[in-house]
Amino acid sequence: MADFEPVTKAVVPAAGLGTRFLPATKATPKEMLPIVDKPAIQYVVEEAAAAGLLDVLMVTGRNKRSIEDHFDVAYELEDALRAKGDEERLSQVQEPVDLATMHFVRQGEPRGLGHAVLCAKQHVGHEPFACLLGDDLIDARDPLLKRMIEVRGTYGGSVVALMEVPEEQVSLYGVATISPTSEDDVVRVTDLVEKPPAGQAPSNWAVIGRYVIDPAVFEVLEKTPPGRGGEIQLTDALRTLAGRSTAEGGTVHGVLFRGRRYDTGNKLEYLQTVVQFAAERPDLAPEFMPWLRQFLDGHAQAR
Ligand code: UTP
Repeated sequence: MADFEPVTKAVVPAAGLGTRFLPATKATPKEMLPIVDKPAIQYVVEEAAAAGLLDVLMVTGRNKRSIEDHFDVAYELEDALRAKGDEERLSQVQEPVDLATMHFVRQGEPRGLGHAVLCAKQHVGHEPFACLLGDDLIDARDPLLKRMIEVRGTYGGSVVALMEVPEEQVSLYGVATISPTSEDDVVRVTDLVEKPPAGQAPSNWAVIGRYVIDPAVFEVLEKTPPGRGGEIQLTDALRTLAGRSTAEGGTVHGVLFRGRRYDTGNKLEYLQTVVQFAAERPDLAPEFMPWLRQFLDGHAQAR
């Protein structure tokens, strides 16, 4: 294995406007929407911690208070639960605080994912770092981030997570041009394009919300002009890095992910995610599943 610096920090951008989820996201960040009873962003921090990243920087925007409060001690609530002897809920309330050391930085204006990442420059410094999108969940049973950190250790540069999507969905993602390596689940990314029009995508391999990024990205982002949608695109900066040598902070590799992923930033997938998570909860499934079956039968008959 080559001698590249270890990855110890995670950056979680959570400053987007969440317009696809309005009006719920008018006063609440979409990353705080609950998946059954836990905000999506807590799963993301759990994933970072499970991969050994105990220094987490959140990039927040307007309405940041609820995110900060969720990962902070809630004295009044804890006292009330302690007084009631409700140890179970008390530990649920304390859990997010103990996951990792949390830091916060404000993205003044939502100028795009690339700009949100640039806001992490001072905290991250000259180390490679992981970036996890706060509304994108990876099933804990299909670990991806650990593998990506391993791949960074082997090849250096930056690493993206790629998932095969149907033709009609390529225009929703950044899409990679890839070439094989000697490892089955790893490819070299030679080019990237953000949300290509249908029929013009270089492949069906879409970039999903997990990255391990070389710190060279900051200098590139500073020079990256607003791209698609007037936003500073992380994809554009990664594209520049894909064309550089390792010595210049470049090369991009992709880990091909075939596990379970939940995009909670859009309404349909959010609903699907909540149902799937509820179906696996031992405290809810015994009542929820028979109800769901009955509901669907009734629905089918009514049609
Ligand atoms: P999205 O592409 O999902 O954008 O961002 P969005 O603006 O939040 O949502 P819609 O499209 O309006 O519904 C992907 C991730 O990048 C963060 C978001 O919070 C989300 O986790 N992001 C995006 C920022 O932190 N800042 C930005 O300026 C844009």
